[in-house]
Amino acid sequence: MPAVLQPAGILGVGSYAPEKVLTNQDLEAIVETNHDWIVSRTGITERRLAGVDESTSSLAIEAARRALADSGVDPAAIDLVIVATTTPDALFPATASLVQHALGAVNAAAFDLSAACSGFIYAMAVGSQFIQTGVYRHVLVVGAETLSRITNWQDRTTCVLFGDGAGAAVLGPVGCGDGFLSFDLGSDGAGADLLSVVPGGFGHELTTGSPDELRCSIKMAGQEVFKFAVKVVEESTRRVLQRAGLTADDLDLFVPHQANVRIIDAAAKRLGLREPQVFSNVHRYGNTSAASIPLALVEARETGRLRPGDRVALVGFGAGLSWASCVMRWSKSPTDTARGPASEAPFRELEEHDR
Ligand code: UT7
Repeated sequence: MPAVLQPAGILGVGSYAPEKVLTNQDLEAIVETNHDWIVSRTGITERRLAGVDESTSSLAIEAARRALADSGVDPAAIDLVIVATTTPDALFPATASLVQHALGAVNAAAFDLSAACSGFIYAMAVGSQFIQTGVYRHVLVVGAETLSRITNWQDRTTCVLFGDGAGAAVLGPVGCGDGFLSFDLGSDGAGADLLSVVPGGFGHELTTGSPDELRCSIKMAGQEVFKFAVKVVEESTRRVLQRAGLTADDLDLFVPHQANVRIIDAAAKRLGLREPQVFSNVHRYGNTSAASIPLALVEARETGRLRPGDRVALVGFGAGLSWASCVMRWSKSPTDTARGPASEAPFRELEEHDR
């Protein structure tokens, strides 16, 4: 194990959302709901739905292709593919293996990671360890979901919330002071029942003996999850900022999991963030679980809200209950795809909280 850590960061990002749009007005024809209720309680006006020929892997592959192109990294140079998802194409093989094959990432290991809406940041935390320790050089991290496939379209308390999409990031070596500065990951399984898809797995014997019993849908205690979310976004962000030696005032951009604009606003207010610091696109995509943060990050960059040198906090929360946050210094710009070799990047001394 090296005594110094190689700084790791994001070399390129990409996202993909299916073309099919489901508006609040469309939902009015499906369940007893209305546009005004959905907007006032969630901020959501529309969401995307995977087409019949699409799946989590196909969304993930498209987002990953865009991230690879953005990074300038060859697929054969990817050492590891991690797909964070709660809606894999199948229980096995891993969706990550399908992505690895489709990309031609012939030298990569691959596995899925299940941490619900915290999954993308969990996956970046895991992937960055391999780079920091010198085990791997390039890790492709994808957050991809087809939540429409586990949505109960008769349940108005949940079906208005979710959408499908994918986002990806190519992680690799960066210069000292750039990239990931700190992470904060957590779990409180005492709240497991508050947000779940059960049976959905093999914790219970199948009563009819039919695998069809595994097809089930999201159940959520909305108000309890809401309270948890506001609290944990504030607490985790404070911890991760403190580990990076920063305050909320130092942040150029705050990109939380896009579940509900009221959660985002309440947490941002508690943190004392100003409006220009906070990014949200929940109104157009709804809650896309593991995909929401990379979908937002890509849009923030495309719209000029994320610039090289910016200090950025990302915060995820959701089923588990789980949470995950990170602070990074964004070093990617549209003109720096031809990044210099990592061996030229200065190393950072191993710090106390890294041990
Ligand atoms: O990524 C995972 C994390 N998940 C979340 O972050 C979700 C957290 N929770 C929330 O975002 C909110 O709790 C919801 C958006 C799910 C619900 O908002 P709320 O302000 O907590 O509403 P509520 O559950 O207290 O419901 C208020 C009323 C109820 O009617 P009554 O009992 O007051 O007559 C509901 O039946 O709104 C009713 N309602 C609806 N009305 C129209 C619930 N869903 C709908 C609907 N359309 N879709």
